[in-house]
Amino acid sequence: MYVCVCRAVTEKHIETAVKAGARRLRDLRVQLGVTEECGRCAKCAKQCLEGAVDQASTSAPRPRHYPLIQEAA
Ligand code: FES
Repeated sequence: MYVCVCRAVTEKHIETAVKAGARRLRDLRVQLGVTEECGRCAKCAKQCLEGAVDQASTSAPRPRHYPLIQEAA
């Protein structure tokens, strides 16, 4: 589905941007041009962004814990 008609940005583009590190609407504006023309997409883009961030955070692998290695004195 198109989120921003003016810039032809879809949900998939936003999901990809989130995987690349986008976390704020400003990030989408810089990376994809969202809201730069008429601005009508702002609310939908924000909702899509939040959904993609939630999805990315729940599907991300858990960090591994490695034991600390102490240097011999
Ligand atoms: S629909 Fe996104 S700037 Fe117009």
